[in-house]
Order: sequence, then structure tokens, then C-alpha cells
Amino acid sequence: MLIALLPGDGIGPEVIGEARRVLDMLEIEGLQFEEADVGGAAYQSYGHPLPPETLDLARRADAILFGAVGDPASDANERHLRPEQAILGLRSELELFANLRPAKAFPQLVGESTLKEEIAGAIDLVIVRELNGDVYFGEKGMRRTAAGLREGYDIMSYDEDEVQRIARVGFETAMARSGRLCSVDKANVLETSQLWRDVVTEVAREFPQVELSHMYVDNAAMQLVRDPAQFDVIVTGNLFGDILSDQASMCVGSIGMLPSASLDGSGKGLYEPIHGSAPDIAGQGKANPLAAILSAAMMLRYSLGLAEDASRIETAVEQALASGLRTPDLGGNALAAEMGEAVIKAL
Ligand code: IPM
Ligand code: MG
Repeated sequence: MLIALLPGDGIGPEVIGEARRVLDMLEIEGLQFEEADVGGAAYQSYGHPLPPETLDLARRADAILFGAVGDPASDANERHLRPEQAILGLRSELELFANLRPAKAFPQLVGESTLKEEIAGAIDLVIVRELNGDVYFGEKGMRRTAAGLREGYDIMSYDEDEVQRIARVGFETAMARSGRLCSVDKANVLETSQLWRDVVTEVAREFPQVELSHMYVDNAAMQLVRDPAQFDVIVTGNLFGDILSDQASMCVGSIGMLPSASLDGSGKGLYEPIHGSAPDIAGQGKANPLAAILSAAMMLRYSLGLAEDASRIETAVEQALASGLRTPDLGGNALAAEMGEAVIKAL
């Protein structure tokens, strides 16, 4: 089994380094690693954020463990050479269309949430975010209006096949949990969302066991901070899922805690913390490695069929937190390496 390690920019290498140490500790038979540059780091050495060598490794690998991309030094690049294009390119080239972003309260961390403890402590939800379409991948550009004004535009669209396949992942995810699915859209304003709602409703007939509800995205943003425990599985489009998943992460305490999986139709996946490259703290060794470590656990569970090892890592993370160790994002001053060491010790 080949794992592609793509640490990327900023704190990416620090947190992936800790995840790698945890994986090594498990001594899983036949597990191999190959590393490649991605994002701003790749742009510096290859002149492209997603060089062919990196894409080729990602294609060959059974799973990909990804750090973060984003580098202020490349922000002025033309859009297709910006670091973020690397992750967007991997998602579309490998058809990783289903993004699972779980947000579950850690009892040890409820005090870190900006929500009241009794509200934060009850959060246990998964956002299923579509990852290959929407306004992210539509035609975009800059032009002049008839009056000569500069105008930026990005076209939002979904076809019914795209909605169907992500809806099915949403329903299946709901079936494996409490059986409730909330589809989030903006059907009161957007045609894209009207089609989304129609198709999700059609797919619901295949899953009579699942209780489906629909919610407008503005209301969903409000409900997520008012009463997040009402949600179990949320299925939504690329843009709304991007926004709501950041929000959900803060509700549980820190964006430094949340892992994610981006899956194709056959179980191959890219696993990454949902946080970014955090250039402000990069290179200081104080990033929280737990989201990356938990991403490695998701990788074992979803792409490598090693659910038991995944659970061992998750339990070890809880034990590390229970020991009281906290990185700065969680109000402490532990270093990434100390946090990684605590997880390894618990293992
Ligand atoms: C995410 C990130 C990416 C996105 C960026 C880095 C392109 O915010 O994974 O949520 O917008 O999808
Ligand atoms: Mg995001």
C-alpha cells in the first residue's frame, strides 16, 4: 500500500511530520510512503503548484495524506499558479468528489469553543461537501461591462449527475449514523440550488429509511451556532460546504482539530486537516498536529480498511488531550512535537 505524502506549505510539513511518526509507530505491514512537493513549495522548485511528478504520485498511490497549501509569497501569481490550485487540481483530476468533514465535540475541549459549553458539548455531525463542481469550477474571469467598469464573474452550476452522486454519499453516511440528513441550499434564490433540491428529493426515494430535511444556507449558518445538536449529516455544495465546515470547526473548539476525507467513487481518498497553511505561525513548531493525525486515522479507516488502527489513533488523541497538553490554538503552549509524542506514548 503506497501512501503519497504531500506536506505542502506553511505548517503543512510540521503537522504531516507528526502524522507520519504516528503511522510509523503502528508498524502496519506493507505500508510505504513517497513524498512530493505541492502548493507554493512546488511552485518555488518546479514553477507549478501541482507538477506532473506530484500528480503522478497521487495517481499511483492508494491514498494521499495532504498537509496544507497557501503561501503569501505566491499570492500575486496568476490564478492558475497560486498554491490553492494544487488542491483544487488534485480534487478534480482524481475525481475526489465527496468531502467528509466530521465535527465532533471533544469532551476535554468544550471550554475552547466560543459557544456555551452545554451547546458545544452536544455537537456530533458530519458535513458531506461536494468537491468537484459549483462556482469553484465554473467559467470565471475578468471583463469590462458595457460602461467600461471592471467586472469579475464566476459561474455557478451543477448538473443532475453531480448532485445525484453526492446525495447518495449523504444518504449512505446518514444511514450509517442516526438516519437524519439535512440538505443545505439556497433554493429561494438560485436555480443551481433548485435543481439541487429537486434531485436530492428524487434520490431520497432510494433511501426510505432516511429522514430528509432541507434548509437554506443562511438559516443553516444561524442554526449551527444556535442549536448545532439538531444536525447529524449535512449534505451541501462546494461553496456552502467550505463555509459551513469552517464554522462547524470553531463550534467544537479549534480548527486545529478537524480532519477530512475527500473520496472518489471507489474508496481512494485524499486526507487533510481542514485548517490551512497558517503562514503566521509556520516554522515555529507550534501548530496543532491533531487534525493531521486524525486525518491519518480517517485514511486508515476509509482507504486502507484498517478501522481498528484508526480507532487506536483516535483514542490516543483523546488520551493526549486528557493529559492536559494543549497547543497554542487550544490555549496552551505545547509544541507540535510534544503533542505528537503524547499521542505516540498513548499508543
Ligand atoms: C478547504 C480550503 C480550500 C477550499 C482552499 C484552500 C482552496 O478552504 O479545503 O476548505 O476552498 O476548498
Ligand atoms: Mg475552506
